[in-house]
Amino acid sequence: MHRIIIEGGKELSGEVKISGSKNSAVALVPAAVLCDEEVTIANVPNISDIDALDEILSYLGAKVTRKNDVIKIDSSKIENKLIPENITKKLRASYYFMGALLSRFKKVEMYFPGGCSIGARPINLHLKGFEALGAKVKEDGNLFTITADHLKGAKINLDFASVGATINLMLAAVKADGITVISNAAKEPHIVNVATFLNNMGARISGAGTSEIKIIGVEHLHSSFHEVVPDYIETGTYMILASAIGKDMVISNIIPDHVESLISKLEEIGVSMEIGIDFIKISAPLKLKQTNIKTQVYPGFPTDLQQPISTLLTQAEGKSIINETIWENRFLNLHELNKMGATTETLTNSKAVIIGPTKLKGKTVKATDLRAGASLVIAGLIADGKTVIENADYILRGYENIIEKLTNIGAKIRLEEIK
Ligand code: EPZ
Repeated sequence: MHRIIIEGGKELSGEVKISGSKNSAVALVPAAVLCDEEVTIANVPNISDIDALDEILSYLGAKVTRKNDVIKIDSSKIENKLIPENITKKLRASYYFMGALLSRFKKVEMYFPGGCSIGARPINLHLKGFEALGAKVKEDGNLFTITADHLKGAKINLDFASVGATINLMLAAVKADGITVISNAAKEPHIVNVATFLNNMGARISGAGTSEIKIIGVEHLHSSFHEVVPDYIETGTYMILASAIGKDMVISNIIPDHVESLISKLEEIGVSMEIGIDFIKISAPLKLKQTNIKTQVYPGFPTDLQQPISTLLTQAEGKSIINETIWENRFLNLHELNKMGATTETLTNSKAVIIGPTKLKGKTVKATDLRAGASLVIAGLIADGKTVIENADYILRGYENIIEKLTNIGAKIRLEEIK
């Protein structure tokens, strides 16, 4: 286990280079098993979620080589084995092996996936979609057995624009007989990134990035090279940090369009930004105004930036209201922020209030999930004095080289291993 120690109150200045998207990379890696030739994926972030997927691929018998940000995967000799529950539980994205292995072997046995405790996180939409494609799903406790004589294209409407279900059903449908249409599909940037990767391997997917995705099944997928899209949640996290305590902080290697909803929110609360082709430059304003946040599916305000921006709003003048519409347990960071001097109140599991500005003081706090951890790192960097963030392994799951990136812009921060 690790903890992060921060000496806060330092103005941060300089450049942060954004890494490849965690939520894209964790789908691209399992997608590689759809092809029985070697595939190469670049700009893969070096985070523990990727280590866990590497472990799963190796367990199945794939040959995986990683050099810096490039991962080569040869799954020509993989076996269709039951992945041990303790490995599946390491992350939510292990469930992408359901769609990928079902597509390749027409059978997959898997345990219910892991992931941050931000809600119940059901997978009913994934399973319903697999059944629409002709598969049979057997549930035995938290073990799922999904089999299909053959997969046939179908029209699938998602009750909710689920990111995971959209990607998993694309993986399951790329080699199905005939045409599949996924309507009410998610539109996040990583959906487009995965569809492009599959098309580079010879799939025939159109409409990714819109709410209707059409997939014409193909026989074979061939080797391909692909690049992970920049992480727009990491981008937004550093933009929020810069808005709190940055001076001419440059967040580079980004796609500004992917953080459009955050840009407009930050402008609304008084942050001025220089927006370039692939960078944004921000200095914290003297005053921040309150605002209301409602999380929505892309391109609405991302739920994954709700906890980071709640820290910023503790520094804004007035009462801000947060309406979290995606996850039912995503306010756990507010209790920790209150320990540091914030004034927040969780009214229901979807509504919270933040009153500011309040002076934050360094304290020992607990990360309860990945983005809650990010919210506490921002708080520690703003606060006077020393902050200790326990359970920091959550944070290492999704933010590549966070200690180095923050140190390079003037933060006094270090990681400690707890034996
Ligand atoms: C992905 O989770 C991300 N994780 C999450 O990021 C992100 O918060 C979420 O998308 C929304 O953007 C990965 O990509 C690995 P969903 P996912 O399926 O796919 C309900 C982070 O911090 N739902 O879009 O699990 C679900 O309960 C993580 O990086 C069903 O009801 O999200 C939720 O209310 C946290 N049945 C909503 O849909 C299903 O079968 C959104 O879920 C699937 C989902």
